Amino acid sequence: MIKAPKGTKDILPSEVYKWQFVVETARKVASLYNVKEIRTPVFEHTEVFLRGVGETTDIVNKEMYTFLDKGERSITLKPEGTAGVARAFVENGLHNLALPVKLYYITPCFRYERPQAGRLREFHQFGVEFLGSSSAETDAEAIVLAKSFLNELKVDGVKLYINSIGCKNCRSAYQKALKEYYAKRYDELCPLCKERFEKNPLRLLDCKNEQCGELAKGAPSILDYLCEECDTHFTKVKNYLTALNVEYEVKSDIVRGLDYYTKTVFEFVSVNIGAQGTVLGGGRYDGLIEGFDGGNHPGVGFALGIERLLLLMENTGKEFKAEDCVKIYVAPMGEKAYVKAMELVYSLRNCGVKAETDHMQRGVKAQFKYADKIGAKYVVVIGENELINNSVRVKEMATGVETEVSIDNVKEFIINA
Ligand code: HAM
Repeated sequence: MIKAPKGTKDILPSEVYKWQFVVETARKVASLYNVKEIRTPVFEHTEVFLRGVGETTDIVNKEMYTFLDKGERSITLKPEGTAGVARAFVENGLHNLALPVKLYYITPCFRYERPQAGRLREFHQFGVEFLGSSSAETDAEAIVLAKSFLNELKVDGVKLYINSIGCKNCRSAYQKALKEYYAKRYDELCPLCKERFEKNPLRLLDCKNEQCGELAKGAPSILDYLCEECDTHFTKVKNYLTALNVEYEVKSDIVRGLDYYTKTVFEFVSVNIGAQGTVLGGGRYDGLIEGFDGGNHPGVGFALGIERLLLLMENTGKEFKAEDCVKIYVAPMGEKAYVKAMELVYSLRNCGVKAETDHMQRGVKAQFKYADKIGAKYVVVIGENELINNSVRVKEMATGVETEVSIDNVKEFIINA
């Protein structure tokens, strides 16, 4: 038997309604904030992610699905949504639209990671990007949109952590301090952190290794190194969140795993889904568009992992709006009745009623069993006698109550039932 590749999952009909509910809610909330959908390709030139996500990140170094296509071009399946949106923004001259350009996407992403609960190789993101604004108001709006989405789904037990990792200027002073701190403890670092020490010291704060985690606790805080502009910006973001009653905690070791971030970064984290607790992550990225030669168009956004969200909702017993069940099942007996049954369900469907009939030449008993399985609310049997008398009995499955109706009036009866 051929199995799906490791780290991928079929989304079966029995659970797809959960996805539909989450995606519908995402679209609804995005629309309330007047955010428009953008769809970018699932694969891009590898360069997009090298420039966008950053060459020193785990994503680019270890996790990308990269291959040469038949034209010998290096292609990568998108590991995240932001870099592709940035490329599309520049390529399509979206800076000519009213700013900020507010975009959202729902997309599969691919990362070659070790699979575990909440960590897959193919996963899906709902992401939002606001481009062309450098203001703290836009940061607040991005965070509040994320919060509105989680509220709308009635997700609770998720904590919002925020931080500022400053701009290029304040960060270089901070990195210097960080390196001074870690230089004295270099030998205690894990092999990966030794690499990070050289290439990307900020990421030292984010190591999952226990000993590195202990070391990180004593490290200097970026918040003590913010320049005046970054400090004022961060204060404004916090004030907006307070004014809007959005609870948050400042956590100075949130640095995020992608290189494009500047100033505000944030994460929504749950304790209910194990080690992969970050349901949503985001932040400001003022240099990203410039990195694509697209001019100075700062941005801010976030992405939420749909699988992690579903895991959280399932683990905390949240309700998903189920798909409507079949309103009527028409059980035909005999050839003429099949034609009548097809006519009836066709005309009901044309009126927006979810209806089914038999395709399998089953007997009456088996048809009732099937109707029960699909959760049909009403069942009507059409046999030879019913055709002759132009009369059927419509059975309400939950109560067993039967109502005599002429065949011509079944449609009217069911529409009003
Ligand atoms: P990220 O933190 O790498 O950020 O991913 C965002 C979310 O995607 C995570 O919080 C998590 O829920 C989900 N996720 C990431 N990797 C996996 C995986 N292997 N399996 C399942 N879920 C996963 C970004 O991707 C940024 N582009 C977010 C952003 C948008 N920042 C600004 N704009």
